[in-house]
Formats: sequence, structure tokens, C-alpha cells
Amino acid sequence: MNKSFLPIILGVLLATLHSLSYARGEVGFTIRAGDKEAHWSKSQLLNHSARQVLNIPLLNYPDQNFSINAVPISVLLQDMDLTDASVLIFTCLDGYSGVLEKKYLLNDDPDASRAYLAIEPDEKKWPPLPKDANTSKQSAGPFYLVWSNPEKSDIPPEFWPYQLSSLDVEDDFARIFPALLPAGHLAANDPARKGFQVYKARCMHCHQINGQGAAKLGPDLNQPMNPTEYFNEAALKQFIKDPTSVRKWSDMKMVWVKDDIWKDEEIDDLIAYLKHMAERKPDMKQASN
Ligand code: HEC
Repeated sequence: MNKSFLPIILGVLLATLHSLSYARGEVGFTIRAGDKEAHWSKSQLLNHSARQVLNIPLLNYPDQNFSINAVPISVLLQDMDLTDASVLIFTCLDGYSGVLEKKYLLNDDPDASRAYLAIEPDEKKWPPLPKDANTSKQSAGPFYLVWSNPEKSDIPPEFWPYQLSSLDVEDDFARIFPALLPAGHLAANDPARKGFQVYKARCMHCHQINGQGAAKLGPDLNQPMNPTEYFNEAALKQFIKDPTSVRKWSDMKMVWVKDDIWKDEEIDDLIAYLKHMAERKPDMKQASN
């Protein structure tokens, strides 16, 4: 065989393999905004002109030190129209999902926290996530949202999604998930309204209410029944603070919410929101369909 064809044949083979893995959706990262969508493969991101090698503490790898390849999120978002955007919904490979506020992601203040998309190279995988339920030894890859100086802008732990697959730029929370909102007539300092903020920050990543929210990891917290309708209140509070103190099994996913970050008042507000939502179910006939 003529040797000069060999690189071409190899090239075609590689391109085919690449498009196969691309088609399976394994290695890409996507940002959607309105009718615009941008997609990058792992290698495109690793070869990105704005890629940096960072050596920063990683929330999900306490006490471990390794450098990571990362591209600032602001660079990936620069071709998107974000004028009307207020939130970005992130989605992870396992269905975990949540809301990031734009103001944190696109902060120009040099003293503020900076968000980066970290990319796990195939030839040098990151260590397995050090958590109890990680029997399959998965790492935070393929993509992981990380922050430099997270303490500067009080970045909450929920803003470090790992095994990330996409970001959706949304202009208005109420428009996307109207069935999560407390009644419009409630005062700004009503506990149910404050509890809604707690729900968005700490529960929405895994649960839905009235079938709304991007996550599908845990059960809907209003349909068919709301936990305030079948848990006694003290047990529910205890479950929220420390799920394994109420029930535990090896594959439990809700354990990580246990944290020292809870203030009792926040839990009271959250219960007020849940109780309020129990009065705000869509037609139950529709819900059971
Ligand atoms: C990391 C994902 C995750 C987060 C965050 C999370 N949950 Fe859960 N939750 C689950 C999953 C999954 C279940 C089902 C049981 C399990 O695997 O732990 C569950 C179960 C529950 C249940 C029990 C439902 C039942 O009938 O047994 C309640 C109540 C609940 N969650 C409330 C909350 C509240 C309130 C928050 C916010 C403070 C929250 N969860 C945050 C994943 C999560």
C-alpha cells in the first residue's frame, strides 16, 4: 500500500471515532441561550486559547492538591446574548441540576470570585471524588465548575457542580418555572417567600415541585403529596438537616445536604414554603395523569 495514504486513512478513522463519541454525547459541553447553542468537545476546550492551568483548592476534593485545565466561564459566554439573562440553569450527567445567578458568573470585579469550567483530560483523569457513596470511583469530570477565591463572593457549595454537561441561559425565573412561585400577594418578608429562596438554593438541584424544575434526582415535593402532609414536622426538620438520622441506606443520595450551614430560621422558612405550596397544587386530576 502506498504509505502516503496512511495518515489520511488514520485521520478519517480518528474523525469517525470522534464523531461516534460525540454522537453518544459523552465528551461535549453545551451552552444554550435562546435559539443559540454552542458546543465544545473536550479537546476543543483543552486547546482553547483562554485555557489556563489552575492550582486552586477544589471544594469537592478537600485536602487534595492537583492542577487542573480550565477556561473562564465568561470567555465561553462571550458570544451569547446575556442582556436579559438573570440565571443560568446547569445540568449534570446524572440529572442533577440547579440555578446559578449570572451576577456571580460574570463578575468583572478583579477582587471577586471567578468561575471556570475545568476539563478532565482523557489521558490524565482526576482522582475519584472522595465521598462515601462513590463505589464506582467516579471523578468530577468530564467538566467541573470551579471558583477561584470563592470566599470573596460567598459562593455557596451548590455552585460547584461536577460531572457537568450543559448550561442554559434563561431570562426570567418566573417564566421558566411559574409553578414553583409562592402566591404573588405574600409580603417580601413572609416566611414562605424567604423559604422559596432557601428551596432554590438548597433543594431545587434535585427535586421538583408541581412537576417543575430541571432536576429529576429526587421525588417531586408537592405531588401527589407534599412532605408536610405526611411527615410530622419535627421529623421533617430533622430529615432536612440530617437525612441519615431519620433513614439511611447505602445508595442514599440526599446525604450531602447535611451540613453545618443551616440556621434554624432557614429551615422554618423552608417548611413555611412547603406548607404554602401544599395549598398551591395544580388540579390533582391532571397531576395524577
Ligand atoms: C443531592 C440531591 C438532593 C438535594 C440537594 C435534596 N434532596 Fe431531598 N431527596 C433526594 C433524593 C434522591 C431523595 C430520595 C431518597 C434518597 O435517595 O435520599 C430525597 C428525598 C427527600 C424527601 C423524602 C421524600 C419521601 O417521601 O421519602 C424529602 C422530604 C426531601 N428529600 C426534601 C428535601 C428538601 C426540603 C431539600 C432542600 C433542603 C432537599 N430534599 C434537597 C435528593 C436531594
